[in-house]
Amino acid sequence: MKFSIKTDPSEKQRSDVLVLGVYDSLKVAYDKANLSTSTISYIASILKHGDMTGKAGSSLILYNAPGTKTSKILLIGLGKEKELDGKKYLTAVRAMIYALKKMDVKTIASYIQIAPVIGSDIAWNVEHFITEVMDASYEFAELKTIDKKTKKTFDFLVNVDKKNQKIAEGALKKSFALAKGIELTKTLGNLPPNICTPTYLGKKAQEIGKEHGMKIDVLDQKQIEKLKMGSFLGVAKGSRQPPKFIVLQHNKGKKTQKPIVLVGKGITFDAGGISIKPAGDMDEMKYDMCGAASVLGTFKTIGLLNLPMNVIGIIPTCENLPDGLALKPGDILTSMSGQTIEVLNTDAEGRLILCDALTYAERFNPDVVIDIATLTGACVIALGHHASALYSNDDKLAKDLESAGQISMDRAWRMPLWEDYQSQLDSNFADMANIGGRAGGSITAACFLSRFTKKYKWAHLDIAGTAWKSGKAKGATGRPVGLLTQYILSKIH
Ligand code: BES
Ligand code: MN
Ligand code: ZN
Repeated sequence: MKFSIKTDPSEKQRSDVLVLGVYDSLKVAYDKANLSTSTISYIASILKHGDMTGKAGSSLILYNAPGTKTSKILLIGLGKEKELDGKKYLTAVRAMIYALKKMDVKTIASYIQIAPVIGSDIAWNVEHFITEVMDASYEFAELKTIDKKTKKTFDFLVNVDKKNQKIAEGALKKSFALAKGIELTKTLGNLPPNICTPTYLGKKAQEIGKEHGMKIDVLDQKQIEKLKMGSFLGVAKGSRQPPKFIVLQHNKGKKTQKPIVLVGKGITFDAGGISIKPAGDMDEMKYDMCGAASVLGTFKTIGLLNLPMNVIGIIPTCENLPDGLALKPGDILTSMSGQTIEVLNTDAEGRLILCDALTYAERFNPDVVIDIATLTGACVIALGHHASALYSNDDKLAKDLESAGQISMDRAWRMPLWEDYQSQLDSNFADMANIGGRAGGSITAACFLSRFTKKYKWAHLDIAGTAWKSGKAKGATGRPVGLLTQYILSKIH
């Protein structure tokens, strides 16, 4: 996909199709300066026929309209003018892509982004136009040899008023980088677990690092042992694939600026270990590295934007499989922090690899540490597939992440981390157990992590319900790269 910002009147632009938004009043959301009067009255006369409702997401193609150099006009419904919110706007952009895919067009002059969206500005409209187009046209077909759809690529001329040109160009640059990060996160998630192994993630991290001048370390088993990450290594024991501990450093901020540290869960396949999972849908546990993938995607984005910030990414990655040498229920592990953990269920492995990564994060003297993990099925029960669960030991950090989620339409909902829940993790034999019973499963998982994050401001995002979709539309979503990028951008002064 290519995007460029345009400010010329539409009759001067050469394109294969002109895309215009239409409200349910059948009024076209155009800027008068950009359409000739003959085009406007032609559209009005066609709409009188009643074949288009103007409902958000509806569409109609017109041919040979007068007053324009384009032979096709694609009308996209925006719904009620006064009720055009972010969600409906995205529905309209998505409907545009579905319609364009069925047409014989290459260069598209779009105007839907000039429609005012409640609570947003033109920068937001342009940004979300681009990220939604990229999202809706994403395909993962690398491994298909038959029925392989060839991906259509378009050249978008994104029109705005002359006075908004600079703002729109900035928005284009930002959102294209974001879309590239999201695309990478989706592809890493969608790759099968026999390809996307811990070693593969290490190589990908190295690639991203080299491309964008970051410092990258991929620690192997021996180096991880030296660090005394007994908890992480406990999980890795049952797998033939060697574990990796990936550290990315984007040091483009002032020397004195404390870094933002992102920690991503990188279980490239979670069979549950000895506490094995039921067979149904187990394939989806290839997505158990989506936290790691979101860290890599965010690094791709901040690398492309060359952001003047210090950001560290930490990824503990391994498989969780049953094996003769695998971790057993009853085993007691000594974490890097020195705290001991009784493993009552080997399927609660995410917290076991994250706790050592969270201890490792201390050495960076972080401003904040944010971990991202497909941590609990209980999170999906609590919040479904719309919001990621957000936990934090710092109210300001929680508020900042909530608002970054709102702006990016990649929302998170804050959950409690009250002391009351901590006793569910009591163990008779070690400092803590790795599970806290069925009640409040996402919360007790966060409570477990909180025991390793006392030395800094910390937030935890449980993305179990948001990182991928199941069923017919099965696929990674790229969340929460939008939220994380927005948060990091909000810290640039
Ligand atoms: N990766 C899973 C969490 C998960 C399960 C995410 C299903 C999305 C869909 C995690 O490692 C896990 O297995 N958690 C257990 C914890 C339990 C044993 C306390 C769970 O949620 O069942
Ligand atoms: Mn598990
Ligand atoms: Zn898991």
